[in-house]
Amino acid sequence: VIPEIDLPGHTLGILAAYPEHSCGGKPVRLANRGGIYKTILCAGKESTYGFLEELLGEVCELFPSEYFHIGGDEAPKSEWKTCPDCQKKKEELGLAGLEDLQGYFAGRVADLLKKYGKKPVCWNDLLQTKNVPEGMRCQYWTVEYAEQTAEFARRGGEWIYSDMFEIYFDYPYSMSPLKKVYETTPHFGKKPCGKDEGPVGMEACVWTEQICESESLEERIFPRIYAVAELTWSGRGKYREFEKRLEEGRKRTIGYPL
Ligand code: ACM
Ligand code: ZN
Repeated sequence: VIPEIDLPGHTLGILAAYPEHSCGGKPVRLANRGGIYKTILCAGKESTYGFLEELLGEVCELFPSEYFHIGGDEAPKSEWKTCPDCQKKKEELGLAGLEDLQGYFAGRVADLLKKYGKKPVCWNDLLQTKNVPEGMRCQYWTVEYAEQTAEFARRGGEWIYSDMFEIYFDYPYSMSPLKKVYETTPHFGKKPCGKDEGPVGMEACVWTEQICESESLEERIFPRIYAVAELTWSGRGKYREFEKRLEEGRKRTIGYPL
């Protein structure tokens, strides 16, 4: 089990409890629906890093995994843009823009993880920065940063394939039918990845902000998980033969609709 604490975005939960770590420092309401919210952790205040040191220290102790996912996706910069602390940090460091401030922020988090004996993983949104921390593993989910991911792979960066149109199981079967999942091939947008640029592995994702019942969660996961398991474990064979093997899985699975 590899934990993920998404930083600096998707942190309303943190900020509802510790509003002082946002740019404005004002109370924020806990979200009751999924989405991208503009209030994120402040990258300018040193106190943010002190808080993260404590938080990551506690969580790292709970998980024996080699890796730790630090997110980095969907972090709007509107509050960083007007925050005196973020602007001061950006200027002090001579950074070109706020994407590079996120790169700096990720570097600070990666340093903390190193101290706790963990290696960092991020979403491919972070590749918008010029200063991706050394040793970062990157998870490709969105085609929006396909080019940057291809470049990262070309330079020898390790990456994980999780294309949202192929192996995001929260999406319906109309978007990602079983055959499409089974036949997915790692790519960077429209471009298949070359032999030396392949991912270290795949991970299927299932986000649950719109899935309220455990039955619908199981429906989304099964049987698509068998396709990803086979691809990652033994490699792709013929789909017709996979379908036959699937029958075995079907017998073992509760709640899988025929
Ligand atoms: C993601 O789905 N925002 C990684
Ligand atoms: Zn700030």
